[in-house]
Amino acid sequence: MSIPLNDIGRQHRSLAPALAEAVARVLERGWYVHGEEHAAFEQEFAAFCRRRHCIAVGNGTDALELALRAVGTGPGDEVVTAANAGGYASLAALALGAVPVLADVREADLTLDPAAAVRLVGPRCKAVIATHLYGKLADMSELAGRLADTGAAVIEDCAQAHGALRDGRPAGAFALIGTFSFYPSKNLGAAGDGGAVICDDDALAARLRALRQYGWDERYRAVTPGGRNSRLDELQAAVLRLKLPHLAAWNERRRAIVARYRQAADGTRLGLVHRPGPDYVAHLCVARHPERAAFRQRLAQRGIASAIHYPFADHQQPAIAGRALRPLPLPVTERAVGEIVTLPCFPEMSDAEVAAVAAAIEAER
Ligand SMILES: Cc1ncc(COP(=O)(O)O)c(C=O)c1O
Repeated sequence: MSIPLNDIGRQHRSLAPALAEAVARVLERGWYVHGEEHAAFEQEFAAFCRRRHCIAVGNGTDALELALRAVGTGPGDEVVTAANAGGYASLAALALGAVPVLADVREADLTLDPAAAVRLVGPRCKAVIATHLYGKLADMSELAGRLADTGAAVIEDCAQAHGALRDGRPAGAFALIGTFSFYPSKNLGAAGDGGAVICDDDALAARLRALRQYGWDERYRAVTPGGRNSRLDELQAAVLRLKLPHLAAWNERRRAIVARYRQAADGTRLGLVHRPGPDYVAHLCVARHPERAAFRQRLAQRGIASAIHYPFADHQQPAIAGRALRPLPLPVTERAVGEIVTLPCFPEMSDAEVAAVAAAIEAER
């Protein structure tokens, strides 16, 4: 048996007739950008996230960049963020000429440590980006409390956390702005690139709508400086509309897989980072192992794929190191980078595949 980390084709096959019909409908209509699918998706996704506005864009990195720009981030400003989340927030800040300021994460769940973050918020800080890493909601109420008097905008990067809930509130509904990626492997994934920004504030939403389309307030009239082209096309919007009603069930299946692995890991040196619950949608099932390479080799011998998310902290990435600030040491981040391992976890995994991964974990006892 060969067990992949993910297999997006299976999701496609489970919805193939409906997807084919949706794609044919869009092609037949002959209107491919900012048409009725896009408008309907924006409404449906805003309602799903319980926010007034959804501004769909080209991808999740653009969503971060546009969100930063919309709150006034520019050259020389600072953006506080964690260093273990793939580098997307740092790259978005750097694209605007701003400086990423890297804070450590919490040992318990590897999300941004609010106490560490607030210590780094200085007069040049325009925004703090908290990533709901691996699908686990960061501690947004603690962060909001600590940042209340700083004037820094709080942005939630929800690219891995579609549908996560805390006290009934969904990812993206805790801060000024939430950003999403719909990259194909995300919990809600398009058949290509896609992203969105969500918020409640009307003026902010208007600025984001202008920024994603040349700075236009009306066709061909550029008024908002810094505008560019970052749009979600009709085909992707139609695909996402079709998948959104399935998201809750898919997230539940992901959590059930993690629950099974956790049970299997009892009494082993493999520590699963998260506990299944509403605030964790198991985008990635990440565990820690003190001898990771050997463990991965044993998985590979059983035909089980594994990966590392992410193998480099931001300050270890050549394009970010030297351009980011790291005023305090990042011991939790650095230790985690050496121990984390991602196990196969996707909704379409068969029970036999889940059992085979669980057996491989049990064999570690
Ligand atoms: C946490 C996080 N933020 C941002 C992104 C960037 O999204 P995209 O690949 O759509 O640009 C991703 C995924 O790729 C991500 O996982």
